[in-house]
Formats: sequence, C-alpha cells, structure tokens
Amino acid sequence: MKLQFVNELLTGVEEMDRQHMVLVELLNEVTSLLERGEREKAIKVFRDKLVEYVETHLKDEEEFMEKIGYPDLDNHRKGSRYLQKSHL
Ligand SMILES: [Fe+2]
Repeated sequence: MKLQFVNELLTGVEEMDRQHMVLVELLNEVTSLLERGEREKAIKVFRDKLVEYVETHLKDEEEFMEKIGYPDLDNHRKGSRYLQKSHL
C-alpha cells in the first residue's frame, strides 16, 4: 500500500513540504520492499536512509520553527523526542 502525499499536508513552506515529500517516498520505498519480501533491503533503507532523513528533517523543522517564533514549538519538540526515543 502506497502512501500518497496529498495537498492537505502542504504547509506552504517550500523546504518543509519538499522534505515531507521525501519522507513519504522513503516510507513507500521501505513498504514496497517489505511487500516484495525483501526484508533485509527494507531494514537497510530504513536504517541508512529513513532514520537519517527523519533526524535531519526534525532538526531543520525545529530550527525553522525557532526562527519564526512558532508558538507550539515545545509540544512539537516533545513529539519529536518521543518519536526519536520510541521508533528510531
Ligand atoms: Fe515535519
């Protein structure tokens, strides 16, 4: 099953939208490999590409939010830390 990047996910911030699209593509790559039974390749893409990209994205996103004074940054950080601790 492929994830679709729908317009409702657009933030209007070009770089963040581009990174979100890449994340969806990487998730789809992992899913496709798993569906084809290529578990070892899926694990490799997950570890070598997806995890690294998520870390980069969270860092970039938080820096952007700091720059614009995003009011809910603390909650976003909590969500990011939870994701990093529990899934990465
Ligand atoms: Fe994001």
